[in-house]
Amino acid sequence: MSEKFDVKLDEKHYIPDPRIKAEAWTRDYETTYGEFLNDPEKFWGDIAGELEWIRPWDRVREWSYPYARWFTNAQLNITSNCLDRHVLNHRRTKAALIWRGEDGEERIFTYRQLAREVNRFANGLKSLGVQKGDRVCIYMPLVPEQIVAMLACARIGAVHSVVFGGFGVSALNARIHDAEAKIVITADIGVRRGKTIPLKGIVEDAIINAPSVERVVVLRREEPQVELLPEMEVDYHELMEGADRTCSPEVMDAEDPLFILYTSGSTGAPKGIVHTCGGYMVGTYYTTRHVFDIKENDIYWCTADPGWITGHSYGVYGPLAVGATIVAAEVTPDYPDPGSYWKIIDDLGVTIFYTAPTAIRMFMKHGETWPQQYDLSSLRILGSVGEPLNPEAFEWYYHVIGCGRCPIVDTWWQTETGMQMITTMVGEPMKPGFAGKSIPGVIADVVDRNGNPVPPGTGGFLVIKEPWPAMLRTVYKNDERYRKYWSTIPGYYAAGDLAVKGEDGYIMVIGRADDLIIVAGHNIGTAEVESALVSHQAVAEAAVIGKPDPVKGNTIKAFVILRTGFSPSEKLTSELTYHVRKTLGPIAMPSEIEFVERLPKTRSGKIMRRVLKAQEMGMDPGDISTLEE
Ligand code: WT7
Repeated sequence: MSEKFDVKLDEKHYIPDPRIKAEAWTRDYETTYGEFLNDPEKFWGDIAGELEWIRPWDRVREWSYPYARWFTNAQLNITSNCLDRHVLNHRRTKAALIWRGEDGEERIFTYRQLAREVNRFANGLKSLGVQKGDRVCIYMPLVPEQIVAMLACARIGAVHSVVFGGFGVSALNARIHDAEAKIVITADIGVRRGKTIPLKGIVEDAIINAPSVERVVVLRREEPQVELLPEMEVDYHELMEGADRTCSPEVMDAEDPLFILYTSGSTGAPKGIVHTCGGYMVGTYYTTRHVFDIKENDIYWCTADPGWITGHSYGVYGPLAVGATIVAAEVTPDYPDPGSYWKIIDDLGVTIFYTAPTAIRMFMKHGETWPQQYDLSSLRILGSVGEPLNPEAFEWYYHVIGCGRCPIVDTWWQTETGMQMITTMVGEPMKPGFAGKSIPGVIADVVDRNGNPVPPGTGGFLVIKEPWPAMLRTVYKNDERYRKYWSTIPGYYAAGDLAVKGEDGYIMVIGRADDLIIVAGHNIGTAEVESALVSHQAVAEAAVIGKPDPVKGNTIKAFVILRTGFSPSEKLTSELTYHVRKTLGPIAMPSEIEFVERLPKTRSGKIMRRVLKAQEMGMDPGDISTLEE
């Protein structure tokens, strides 16, 4: 691919107040980056040295393409760094977690309290027979217990697989199945927009064909309490009650798995991305501290659910490793009104705020009057993640939310990278539309199919040229898929994104190169939605595409061929939409379904979504030489 992009490369930029740069942890990007390039192992070794290890490493990095090992033979437990380390110093009584519910309920945990909860729940899990290496599925709403459950697994070396509470039965079943989870931790309900979501009911259906599951732990939030089925289900609080409040941290090798997190693939099956203890801890600790420039008194809020990688790395592990006060909230940005986020920032004095472009665009649509009703002067740094932050959204975020004072860190990374990879470090000139440059410690570039750097202004593939500590180590039970990341473009990690570089090296990320659609910041595989549609009796074949949407980034449009005996109707449209909601969850629901007679296919039978998309947008479909007549 080499396409000239008509982008304004080097025009508009904002230079932050020089005091911000003078006080930042990374004071001088160029110098720091140079130090990294000069001796990458020293760079990462020095950072790792700021953390606590049970046994030090022999080598910082061992790279045997495409396999990397970081901090070899070192031993650690990530929770000792996220909890114990702080309990033993001045952070003992510092708020670790401030949680807000949709109805305004507030719960606060100091580091000492959070550590106790984690230890007790860890002992509870042990009493159910959970051992190091066992997989535990966490399917919970965004409540403190969700975070406690993750950390408790890490405490005893169990590998957690958090599944977002918005996923439906079959998505949950596939994830439990693939991970062979021994335990599922859930809640009776999740709360969203004043309604309850019956999580426990979904789990009951999802474990029917999941023989690995021995027990379901249920956090009961509602009164009167739902009944538990004693053969299988255990009450969260009962498990906690008898449990000792100290639990010594399991000794983990740096390369032992910490968690699996499923992400949509371009085939129907989700990929279980595997992250390990040592490198992931170092990578998320460092980026949280330096990219957000977190200081002791910051109140830090990442709006992502821990069901996504952002919630893992920057909602839980990174900020706790640095000893920050984190905010977590089971809220929706526009419920009960579009002021719900601004109210939390005002109430709690949030200083660092990390959210997604889709939320920002939604706020833009509702207008400036909502944020203007609140005092947002506590804000110091704004972050964005999940998809390109388009210049209009950048300007609005910068001026309306940040009042022209706050640097914006537009952070590019992926479930696979585990940590942020590209951004504009705090204090450096910001260019709307551009994420920025490689974070010190990372070597990103834009190249052609053969791995040669493309000239400025020319589109290409986004790659990472050298391994980094928080990188994925494999795809669970599918190492071949792992190797593919490193073989698509010879020698490099291919992110699957298209990008373009400016004269000054700033990188603009354009979007996915493969069959993934990003809807409201969620990565959805076209194949997953298609197979959900095809599992309905009326559907013979289906193809889905992403359609640009001013708020959500993309919406899903489905083209459906019906089986004989079925005919298009509004009722069938709602039935199919409902069917996808039930199988995959509301985030994957098509917003448009078109019934068609045939679909454009290659001779080998692959649906050419590109052609459908071009037709839909009234564009030239490009090369159609493989199209079957
Ligand atoms: C894909 C990864 C990383 C946490 C959330 C998503 C897109 C992510 C940006 C950004 C442009 C971005 C990419 C990437 N993406 N951040 N700042 N600018 N695009 O994690 O579900 O693994 O998705 O999200 O396309 O490949 P994910």
